[in-house]
Amino acid sequence: MKIYRANLLWTPTPEKFEIIPHGYIAVSDEGKILSVGEQNPIENLSEKSRNSIESQSKVNASLGEVIDFGDKLLIPAFNDLHLHAPQYRNNGLAMDLELLPWLNTYTFPEEMKFKDLAYARKIYTRFVHELWMQGTMRAAIFGTIHLEATQLLAQLLQDAGLGAYVGLVAMNRNSPEDLRNSTEQAIHDTIALDEQLGRNGLVKAIVTPRFIPSCTEDMSHALGVIARERQLPVQSHLSENISEIEWVKQLEPLSTCYGDAYNRYGLFGQTPTLMAHCCYSDDKEKALMRANGVYVVHCPTSNYNLASGMSPIRSYLNEGIKVALGTDISGGHYMSMLRIIQYAIQTSKIHYAQSHGQVPFLSLSEAFYLATKSGGTFFGKVGSFEPGYDFDALVVDDSYLNFANYSLQERIGRFIYIGDDRDIRVRFCLGKELKEPQI
Ligand code: GUN
Ligand code: FE
Repeated sequence: MKIYRANLLWTPTPEKFEIIPHGYIAVSDEGKILSVGEQNPIENLSEKSRNSIESQSKVNASLGEVIDFGDKLLIPAFNDLHLHAPQYRNNGLAMDLELLPWLNTYTFPEEMKFKDLAYARKIYTRFVHELWMQGTMRAAIFGTIHLEATQLLAQLLQDAGLGAYVGLVAMNRNSPEDLRNSTEQAIHDTIALDEQLGRNGLVKAIVTPRFIPSCTEDMSHALGVIARERQLPVQSHLSENISEIEWVKQLEPLSTCYGDAYNRYGLFGQTPTLMAHCCYSDDKEKALMRANGVYVVHCPTSNYNLASGMSPIRSYLNEGIKVALGTDISGGHYMSMLRIIQYAIQTSKIHYAQSHGQVPFLSLSEAFYLATKSGGTFFGKVGSFEPGYDFDALVVDDSYLNFANYSLQERIGRFIYIGDDRDIRVRFCLGKELKEPQI
């Protein structure tokens, strides 16, 4: 067991931050939170239970020893529920086209390079380093069609101690020949990735049809079957861009909406499912997402950069749809979940103005909740400081920002809006302190 002391801030519910100045968190040897409170939990234990914990504790035998982070903040680490590792080189580039020409002109040619394992190692090493740097301890990540490169990505994430779902991308139409896999290959490689990773570690496989325009009926159907048979989660894109939605209507004339196309193949909540963007989901699609427990992954920077539109997140929340946040590298340009929280709030404020005040905007605590506990539910008990939760946390030294007697409530606001990775001093994933990965 370990005990940490710091200013604790987290969001067990969206409505407000829970704040304990100089509070204590006790963490088991398995990395689970045992208790959270104002007092050192050891001081409250009877002699008998002290001895029993002491004898169970493999690490840090000296009970009651507290690792004190002084006046720093301790917050849940971030969860990024949508990004593309092979697009990392293009971050901050290629901002002059909207989705479909952007894919053809910039993104597909870049992803084709991941046939070369040396290139994949170079880019993926940097990518994993930045996840660590930005304090994102869990992520749902798209790889490419290339099994070896995707396995390498998973290995690098495991070596870094990060948690992730990694997807072997399935795509067999409407892309260059060299960036297509057959249905058989995609199924075989998804299973190979799943077998390599197993189900007990922090890095696992996820079924990843790129999007409906990339997958024939045969491929989508086969992916739905393995998702169900192997109980694998699913990630894809949905209702991101007007031209894309029109195209899907032509490709899937029998579907009642874009989401229904996935649903007909068993790729829409039959197992836990992430759908990125959802800028234009209509009532039918929203009803299906709610009924099937599908997550909307809101990627506001990407939606701006690709001129896609704005996802009405506050309305989704009001309607009981699950929502998480994502950076969508490299449609989104920056891997910091701090910036995504900020953009999510700002986007919701435009909706507020456009609805003449009818739809309220997101509060700071709500957006923080989306980036921590809401996204964390996809990984288990992750993203909050509650007993039984995985201890995924960041130690934040905001002393540079904290020069004028700010309250803790104000300090978390300033860190989110104007802080960055330089303020993150220590990172924990499942109780383990993660050292900086080599680049
Ligand atoms: N839709 C299909 N592929 C992609 C992608 O790589 N990025 C984004 N933003 N949307 C997509
Ligand atoms: Fe994406």
